[in-house]
Amino acid sequence: MAMLIDGKAISAQIKEELKKETALLAEEGRHVCLAVVQVGGDPASSIYVGNKKKACDQVGIESLSYELEEQTSEAELLSLIDRLNRDDKVNGILVQLPLPGHINEDAVIRAIHPDKDVDGFHPESVGRLCIGEKGFVPCTPAGIIQMLKRSGIEIEGKECVVVGRSNIVGKPMAMLLLRENGTVTVAHSRTKQLREVTKRADILVAAVGKPKFITAEYIKEGAVVVDVGIHRNENNKLCGDVDFDGVKEKAAAITPVPGGVGPMTIAMLMSNCVEAARK
Ligand code: GUN
Repeated sequence: MAMLIDGKAISAQIKEELKKETALLAEEGRHVCLAVVQVGGDPASSIYVGNKKKACDQVGIESLSYELEEQTSEAELLSLIDRLNRDDKVNGILVQLPLPGHINEDAVIRAIHPDKDVDGFHPESVGRLCIGEKGFVPCTPAGIIQMLKRSGIEIEGKECVVVGRSNIVGKPMAMLLLRENGTVTVAHSRTKQLREVTKRADILVAAVGKPKFITAEYIKEGAVVVDVGIHRNENNKLCGDVDFDGVKEKAAAITPVPGGVGPMTIAMLMSNCVEAARK
């Protein structure tokens, strides 16, 4: 039976550390402030945004909430971002994705000033990550690295396989594992013989987007398995991209869903906000 990597507990530990940092910053008269923007009322996005604002409260970060109507035009959203870019009180800007179809997400991501890009999605942040310069790192992959490190799992020299190549998770995850001196393979929906590739992994990161897709046959005995997925199964229960019950018998360590990667993403967002304020 695999060791359970408790993302909830590690995230709580990180938030406690950040709470001390925000208190110290406050003593210097510096207050950390995150602007959270949501367009439309997608129920899943509302839950994520609510959790982010709750975490801000816990850590001592002020959150400013902008709940815009679904019909908001791209120009209106860009004008709000411009205002937030120029507001010295605001350290970080988070626009919850996905945006309604009539708004160009790339244009919105590019509009956020790189110094306030706490999501790490701006091309400048992406470029900095690729060439090893300091900059904001996307929260989910950054959280996964923290989770591995704080669980005593070494990355250097290990075979790391990332399944998924999204801009938010797969690509930055590969870059971060590489930065930690892992040997990295990125697999995706067009990968041939996927099972043969994933079975090489000492560390497997599943960001596939399909419920319980990664079964025990995809895993090497003793691997570390990180599950980025979040879905509802046929009984309306949360599950990940990994078939937890089957894989836990074969893996050395595994992240659960819920209580694994999800809470780490939010902790790293808080960490990026504190970093933004320190700059
Ligand atoms: N939607 C799903 N994940 C994320 C995230 O990390 N940041 C933002 N802004 N939107 C998301």
